Amino acid sequence: MGYRHFDTAKIYGSEPAVGHALTEAILDQTVDREGIFVTSKLWGSDHHDPVFSSAFASCYRNMSMEYLDMYLVHWPVKLKPWNYSAVPPEDDFEPLDLESTWAGMEKCLDLGLCRCIGVSNFSSKKIQSLLDFASVPPAVNQVEMHPMWRQRKLRDFCADCKIHVSAYSPLGGPGNAWGTTAVVENPIIQSISRKHKTTPAQVALQWGLSNGSSMIVKSFNQKRLKENMEALNVKLDAQDLTDIEKLEEWKIMRGEFLVNDSTSPYKTIEDLWDGEI
Ligand SMILES: NC(=O)c1ccc[n+]([C@@H]2O[C@H](COP(=O)([O-])OP(=O)(O)OC[C@H]3O[C@@H](n4cnc5c(N)ncnc54)[C@H](OP(=O)(O)O)[C@@H]3O)[C@@H](O)[C@H]2O)c1
Repeated sequence: MGYRHFDTAKIYGSEPAVGHALTEAILDQTVDREGIFVTSKLWGSDHHDPVFSSAFASCYRNMSMEYLDMYLVHWPVKLKPWNYSAVPPEDDFEPLDLESTWAGMEKCLDLGLCRCIGVSNFSSKKIQSLLDFASVPPAVNQVEMHPMWRQRKLRDFCADCKIHVSAYSPLGGPGNAWGTTAVVENPIIQSISRKHKTTPAQVALQWGLSNGSSMIVKSFNQKRLKENMEALNVKLDAQDLTDIEKLEEWKIMRGEFLVNDSTSPYKTIEDLWDGEI
């Protein structure tokens, strides 16, 4: 279908399947390695050793690849080395030591395990504190973004720092336990889609593309995979963008599972996002 950017993470458990499929596509010459872009992410328990416990395993063991194109710190959260639960128990949190984690990420880059390094779920404030000591600045911040969570402040900050913003859950993550159909069912999004004879999902995706972001959309359905790819050809006009700008904002993935008042460095949701919520 033309998809070339593949987003995975150790915690998703999808690295082996993605790696296997991409290896097959490379072997049968559907694509070459330089023609695809593969992202994976460092889980909290691997902050202790980004090189060997994580990037090395993601790249060589799980994905059978010589390198990842992008390697991201999945969340600004450090966990006990044995934690591989997407919802960490309270006892498994450790104080975040971003400086040592980022030194490990830079090492992954030096060793050629990845071609770029970046972050995910970082607020402007956390990026600023990272920039204060980083030898290599993050190339990307992957965050929730869609027409109902537009990330204006973060986008402006990242643009000033030349950091690309990549949008996850660009349709609001319908189908996830925590997701919603509110974005694709929003009456304004629906009326824009009727006006241009497109679909609500295509409007949401083109909104982000027109801001210069990459949109990481997921579907297991062949028809919707094609529909989402065709969002690249949708044109929105200035009025559509103004109407979207007025939508009520709603952060869907709030990260409550990383907040507690004893062991997590984040006692409240506001702490986790540094007020950008
Ligand atoms: N960095 C992070 O912390 C983080 C967090 C969350 C997600 N992500 C990444 O972002 C990717 C996408 O996020 P997501 O799955 O949460 O959200 P999403 O892409 O907004 O939503 C996916 C859901 O939307 C449905 N869908 C797809 N295309 C559609 C269309 N054209 N019309 C209507 N429904 C459609 C899918 O159902 P069908 O399969 O039935 O089509 C699926 O249930 C993930 O796969 C992951 O790689 C990263």
